[in-house]
Amino acid sequence: MKLFDVYPLNDITIVKAKGSYVWDDKGEQYLDLYGGHAVISIGHSHPHYVQRITDQLNKVGFYSNSVKIPLQEELAAKLGKVSGKEDYQLFLCNSGAEANENALKLASFANGRKKIIAFKKSFHGRTSLAVAATDNPSIVAPVNQTSNVIFLPFNDEASLEACFKAQGKEISSVIIEGIQGVGGINVASESFLQKIRTLCTEYGAVYIADSVQCGYGRTGKFFSHDFAGVNADIYTMAKGMGNGFPVAGIIIAPHIQSKHSMLGTTFGGNHLACAAALAVLEIIEQDQLMKNAAGVGQYLIDELKKIPSLESVRGRGLMIGFDVPPELKDLRKNLLWKHKIFTGEAKPNVIRLLPSLALKQRDAEDFVDTIKEEIETMMLQEAKA
Ligand SMILES: Cc1ncc(COP(=O)(O)O)c(C=O)c1O
Repeated sequence: MKLFDVYPLNDITIVKAKGSYVWDDKGEQYLDLYGGHAVISIGHSHPHYVQRITDQLNKVGFYSNSVKIPLQEELAAKLGKVSGKEDYQLFLCNSGAEANENALKLASFANGRKKIIAFKKSFHGRTSLAVAATDNPSIVAPVNQTSNVIFLPFNDEASLEACFKAQGKEISSVIIEGIQGVGGINVASESFLQKIRTLCTEYGAVYIADSVQCGYGRTGKFFSHDFAGVNADIYTMAKGMGNGFPVAGIIIAPHIQSKHSMLGTTFGGNHLACAAALAVLEIIEQDQLMKNAAGVGQYLIDELKKIPSLESVRGRGLMIGFDVPPELKDLRKNLLWKHKIFTGEAKPNVIRLLPSLALKQRDAEDFVDTIKEEIETMMLQEAKA
């Protein structure tokens, strides 16, 4: 059998990983500033993480949600403490799309409405409602198309207000990434998030904070939405939550009530997933990784801003993006193939940095030196050509 060919691949096979480094099958070492797409939160192969999962696997790896799983309560308590949302309720699932799917569905259960407001350049996942709320027609299949999703311009308070004024009583939820990831690292303004909060409260709609990529401490705060100083009704999370172990969840404000069978999953919240998620939170707390993300991230943003040929350096903490001008269009490829540094991209010309929250200052400094050097080389070649 061959694989269903949906991914454009780099010809690299990773066989080992530690901290912010990975190694390929030829023994070549790479600095990982991509984190396998913002997934690696605590660093690769952290010994506490490996131990906690191994110990759990030796006891019980899985049993269904038909029995008590005290690890879920332990995880909820820890997540409440580390995120500061102690009065929220946790529902566990398996992926970012599934988290958003459940959030949108729960909002509709809660207020009995159908319409969803999403934003231009948003990405919320590839399943039914999540993809319908994603602003990329090429990944929306005919069966996913619905007139229930309204796309508005990002950070545009006037059009949000106008939309609520026109059809506020039909709006079930507003879903927004605190920082758009796939869309190219676009930071939601604090006043825009505050406006969403106000309008959702006024019209009885549910504010869903998609924190799948921008959450879990990546920006220096647990949720990037926290910068606005207001609470969402539902936060969705996935990527960094299990440091690679597939685990996701939504946390739900106390005013939204549960009912048996309204949500459910076979694998969500299994013993192994909870052990992985607990290990991640323990390390985030113990090693003060949010503080590290804020500090090393700010250093990177400040230094990258000093490089004249990189345009609009933006982001928060260790979620950083910048535009690459046409003459440096091969910069990302050169960083990977010449300098052995993984970075992310967003089409058409954005480089994204999404490293582990444990990225060391020394590695950040090396990266800044390397990118400066590479840009200089490319500019020289361009001048000669
Ligand atoms: C903001 C955001 N939401 C949702 C998703 C979907 O997550 P998953 O691929 O785990 O379904 C992603 C994935 O990139 C994302 O960046």
